Amino acid sequence: MRDAFLKACKGVRPPYTPVWFMRQAGRYMPEYQKIRQKYDFLTMCKTPEIAAEVTMQPIKILDVDAAILFSDILIPLEAMGLKVEFINDKGPEVSPPVRTGSELKILRPLELPAIDFVFKTIKILLKELDVPLIGFSASPFTLATYLIEGGSSKDFINTKRFIFSEPENFHNLMEILTDATMQYLLEQIKAGVHAVQIFDTWAGILSPYDYAIFCKPYLKKIIEKLSSTVPLIYFCPNTSGLINHIKDLEVDVFSLDWRVDIKEACLNFDYRPLQGNLDPLVLLGREDEVLKRVKTILIDGRCAKSHIFNLGHGVNINTSVDVLKKVVDFIHEFRFEEVNR
Ligand code: CP3
Repeated sequence: MRDAFLKACKGVRPPYTPVWFMRQAGRYMPEYQKIRQKYDFLTMCKTPEIAAEVTMQPIKILDVDAAILFSDILIPLEAMGLKVEFINDKGPEVSPPVRTGSELKILRPLELPAIDFVFKTIKILLKELDVPLIGFSASPFTLATYLIEGGSSKDFINTKRFIFSEPENFHNLMEILTDATMQYLLEQIKAGVHAVQIFDTWAGILSPYDYAIFCKPYLKKIIEKLSSTVPLIYFCPNTSGLINHIKDLEVDVFSLDWRVDIKEACLNFDYRPLQGNLDPLVLLGREDEVLKRVKTILIDGRCAKSHIFNLGHGVNINTSVDVLKKVVDFIHEFRFEEVNR
């Protein structure tokens, strides 16, 4: 198996910078669209053969150094008694929304058999892949926002109303989601994933004061439970104000968005392994401008103990497969020894 990605997760610098992309399987890719025309997104996630095929598309087409399981962060909510739908051009819908303490009784503990398709997909992939497989979950806080808002949100009014009017019940909700997340990640690890990433997409809506109260303790609990299993990556965008809290987390890799200077992040995260952080929309620009920025990130990323190249968020639907492939080739061929000549 190609081991550059796992080496970098463990703080060892491989001969070249490994690269993969968040949302590397998706609608920007004609091969994905071809399957997507026949099935809706959830059917694709729930059919192991299809989910495995789609997971492998970017490995074959782009030659990235890691695969990420084709699924969604909202999948476990279905196994907790909620209804999850993906409505075209509208995004996800979770129902019924849970907005008060009295509504917590809707939630059931995670029923693993209901999401057995995830573990079956992992098993198929382990036979087929020659790169490491990344499993994932949302953080309990990010999951809570979907469950409370009933889907995506711009202002998170319902989430914040819940937190600040019933803080004790919000903690109860976080306990439930933390248990489910731990169980879900452990089961993916048991099935054989080589690393896991926690997506904390919305923690950046909290003040540092409230991140410390409502988010961090639950992350710490999960991180502790997973310690000495597989490498753990924490992705949290929009969080420059939270760095002092985030750096306390004992994860293997911090995944950064493009709003931070990766050189500064090296210092702020005590030179620990970093992942990131190209603005995904740079990829819509002219090729020389794209590669200029990729090169800068590669060079600046050398400040860290090890660096995994990624985007600062998911691949945008308008991205050209050719440009992504050129970025991967450029990264694989880049030789640091030649930089100072
Ligand atoms: O990265 C990968 O290639 C693996 C698969 C993956 C998906 N979603 C597939 C997906 C992963 C890791 C996710 C994580 C996810 N899902 C996050 C965290 C990362 C982030 O973006 O911050 C979030 C917030 C979600 C929730 C979600 N899923 C939304 C808001 C949407 C709708 C927006 C959109 O782009 O359609 C989805 C749908 C979704 N998840 C698609 C894919 C490929 C598009 C489905 C389709 O084909 O219509």
